Amino acid sequence: MRQLIAGNWKMHGMGGEAAALAGAIRAGAAGLACDLLVCPPFTQLVPVAGMLAGSTVAVGGQDCHAEAKGAHTGDISAAMLADAGARFVILGHSERRANHGETDAGVRAKAVAAIAAGLTPIVCVGETEAERTAGWETGVVGGQLSGSLPEGFSGVVAYEPVWAIGTGKTATEDDVAAMHGFIRQALVRQLGEAGSLVRILYGGSVRPANASVLLAVPEVGGALVGGASLVAEDFLAIARAARPG
Ligand code: 13P
Repeated sequence: MRQLIAGNWKMHGMGGEAAALAGAIRAGAAGLACDLLVCPPFTQLVPVAGMLAGSTVAVGGQDCHAEAKGAHTGDISAAMLADAGARFVILGHSERRANHGETDAGVRAKAVAAIAAGLTPIVCVGETEAERTAGWETGVVGGQLSGSLPEGFSGVVAYEPVWAIGTGKTATEDDVAAMHGFIRQALVRQLGEAGSLVRILYGGSVRPANASVLLAVPEVGGALVGGASLVAEDFLAIARAARPG
């Protein structure tokens, strides 16, 4: 399966910057051996999707509401993301779990809504530094998977150890191999044969300098990139390091 290199722009991107970034990624994307995705902030979805229309680069949202519409001030539905040109949506990112109190059950409901709207959910899991120090990482991630993925889930899972996000620290190759192997087994247990087809992305301080090592680890189906996805040349360098699928 082709690896997916996804950029999570988080709360970055005013109009001019977003357009320039999307344009530069579009220009460098042709012929890459991986799938590419950018997830701009909501305000930039329509222009970025417009700039990337007809290219090989897909667009996604960074969150959605579990309901299709209603009195939910400040929220965006999955159908609205699709209407704006998105094909993917990131759900349960650790920043949303930590800053907005998102729970596994809430993430599961959002994943159901995303799939119903025709989007591919990217469900994020990952342990904190304290949980890893205590030796609880597989218990935490296993609990997040069983709580956050709905029955019959089809989509993508992103393993993002919280302590590696935006810190410049990455998990070692061995840690990534162990965790991705554990996640694969959990997915097959939970979803049956379909669990073997779910791409498992690694996220947390992925940079051009470490991408080829991380992307070569078995069961790594791509990368979810934060900071380095804001620099077109870095994002494209990570994409060039993808393992041909
Ligand atoms: P960084 O690549 O900046 O560590 O962010 C990772 C991330 O949170 C992607 O969703």
